[in-house]
Amino acid sequence: MNNTPIKFTPILLSTLLLTGCPFFDDDDDSSSQSSDNTIIVSDSLAYYAEWPTIESKVTVDTDIESQISVILGQMTLEEKVGQMIQPNLDDVTPEEAKQYKLGSLLNGGGSWPDGDKHASAADWAAKADEYWTALDEAYADRGFKVPFMWATDAVHGHNNVFGATVFPHNIGLGAANDPEMINRIGKATAKEVAATGLDWTFAPTVAAPRDYRWGRVYEGYSEDPEIIFNYAGQMVDGLQGGNEGLKSDSQVISNVKHWVGDGGTQDGVDRGENHYSEEYMMNIHAAGYFSGLKAGAQVVMSSFNSWHDDANYDQTGTGEYNKKVHGSKYLITDVLKGKLGFDGLVVTDWNGQNEINGCTSSNCPEAVNAGNDIFMVTARTDWQPFYENVIAQVNDGTIEMSRIDDAVTRILRVKMRANLWNKPKPSDRSLAGNDAILGSDEHRALAREAATKSLVLLKNKDSVLPLQANQQIYLAGSAADDLQKQTGGWSLTWQGTENTIDDFPGATTLKMALEAQVGAENVFTDINDVTEDTIAVVAIGEDPYAEFVGDIKDHQTIGFADLKTAYAADLATVKELKARGMKVVTIFFSGRPMYVNEEINNSDAFIAAWLPGTEAGGITDALYQVSGTDFTGRLSYSWPNTLCSTTINRVPMNIEGYVTPEWEQDISGEHMPLFAYGYGLSYAIGEESDVDLDNLTLDSRDYGCGQDQPDDGLATIPMESTVKRLAVSLHYVFLARQTAGRVLMYLLR
Ligand code: BGC
Ligand code: BGC
Repeated sequence: MNNTPIKFTPILLSTLLLTGCPFFDDDDDSSSQSSDNTIIVSDSLAYYAEWPTIESKVTVDTDIESQISVILGQMTLEEKVGQMIQPNLDDVTPEEAKQYKLGSLLNGGGSWPDGDKHASAADWAAKADEYWTALDEAYADRGFKVPFMWATDAVHGHNNVFGATVFPHNIGLGAANDPEMINRIGKATAKEVAATGLDWTFAPTVAAPRDYRWGRVYEGYSEDPEIIFNYAGQMVDGLQGGNEGLKSDSQVISNVKHWVGDGGTQDGVDRGENHYSEEYMMNIHAAGYFSGLKAGAQVVMSSFNSWHDDANYDQTGTGEYNKKVHGSKYLITDVLKGKLGFDGLVVTDWNGQNEINGCTSSNCPEAVNAGNDIFMVTARTDWQPFYENVIAQVNDGTIEMSRIDDAVTRILRVKMRANLWNKPKPSDRSLAGNDAILGSDEHRALAREAATKSLVLLKNKDSVLPLQANQQIYLAGSAADDLQKQTGGWSLTWQGTENTIDDFPGATTLKMALEAQVGAENVFTDINDVTEDTIAVVAIGEDPYAEFVGDIKDHQTIGFADLKTAYAADLATVKELKARGMKVVTIFFSGRPMYVNEEINNSDAFIAAWLPGTEAGGITDALYQVSGTDFTGRLSYSWPNTLCSTTINRVPMNIEGYVTPEWEQDISGEHMPLFAYGYGLSYAIGEESDVDLDNLTLDSRDYGCGQDQPDDGLATIPMESTVKRLAVSLHYVFLARQTAGRVLMYLLR
């Protein structure tokens, strides 16, 4: 039973936790001013009235600068443009890389060497050698060379690689609120990337997801800038390090993304419209860039979203600019490279140029002129014409040579800072090809620690937890033995689907972890084996998803059980076991906070486990209080109490007099969170909440959050969203065709 007499309301608890939070220094809420009056980014979250100047830990090296200008002076226009093109692995051969003298490639989610999902570290490094050598040869007769580099999405560990450690997704790490651990995760991830011979990871994501309908909520640490600010610098430092780390064999180039405002689109639409004011853009959505760039991140990725503000002027000269960030000279050149003083490189997102009105993936001088330096033009049928087009556009004056020189200077600078001229071919680097580094015991132990720390205990009635070693367990629910649900999107494949247990060697599902903890003989999955004292552990949760596929559509809500029949079955399981009179411990895997009032009512304990990754032992450590392990996770996102409390955000502490924008919900009214930001129970503090968690009010809404009334076929959907839905649908059709085309080309090879 509860030892402490204090009753913790969610609000009180979060206030206590936040005021006691060591990472927010109340006295230091103003930025510092340098002698020449520029605002310098400070060490803790602050308020900025103007874009501040960032002093990067990776400093200007005059030696490097002069070497770059010597090389640049010798490069032909073709060689320069080659540096600016980044195709996807499946769409470029080493011969083509040599022929076009390309500067880099990426492997998109689900692209592996020779299409082999189970490629080893040595296979990856050998493939990296092929491109590296091709470029070495390409420059053999030039008297200078420009080394090749390879980028990947190592966003929760080296997740696209077989056997790698899969850490919790960022949403769980945010709940852990442990910046020091983030640094260690960055270092471990960098080592695993280095073990495959690659040079650069598209991480961290520093989005502040404000609307739970967005399918990428789980990629962000928090809805609020505070934890994002505290984490971004630590993750960059762990992945990449400063001048020295970046040059070493054990760290890789780090990339903050997606610049900027990706988490602030209306209705949470992926690639949608951001309408935040410049003040809020700066102080909410850009916070991760301030600490991330200060820690030295060498790459920033442009974002798919648009930004609707007058400051985002039309530099395209077409009069039809749709305000997409990829075409924003204001945000990329004036703000990022200018005011912030970023001297690394800007990469586009996957064919992001195509988002700009008047552009296609293969032709978009506007995106070059806006200030993007490397173009992730992924398909062969696009990057080859894109290359020719840029050359022609420089020759006819559409693009100025100085713009190309700026891009190539930045690319060479990053490559030189990363020591690529001195590093041997990938497989000869000290960690490369070493399979023992992927998923090593040390890294798995860290992932297990992170999984524990990410858990948020939302309910623990009558101290049903911790579980006792001698209690028999009936294990049920769709997520009980399912690595797809544990790992989520961006796990071996792009959407995280099409994976089986064989794709994650060495991984532990919840079932495996429970069996390891109490012995297989005490874990039942047949209801007939249940006795009076058996405790039910029900693991439920979302199927994996990634970009746009994971968006909640207008006709849907954020009610878990309403989204899919399989999820409704999960709720039915919880209710059925409760109705039998069993004690029910529900573990919820999800990429976002969701409305689960009925699930909570019918559970004795309820844990938000997010997307914990491959090490479910971290969950049983907390369930059984192994070696005193407690629940220390606290919500970094407010938890909804109704089906359509989609946009409920804590008032940012760095913005005095925050005025809730019209598209965010008023959290003091009907959208008051069930559990406020910062909430989380623990064994140490006690288990009570002043809300009756057995009798939460159920929301009877039977139509989507984007609808005005029930969809009986005659529903009135606001005109604006009909148009938007149509546009989004067309966009999906386009993307689906693009992917289908690639699959077809791959099959025909
Ligand atoms: C995503 C990025 C990712 C890139 C490469 C894009 O569609 O938005 O986050 O880094 O693909 O896979
Ligand atoms: C790739 C992802 C990419 C996405 C963009 C997918 O086919 O695998 O890496 O982010 O396309 O649409």
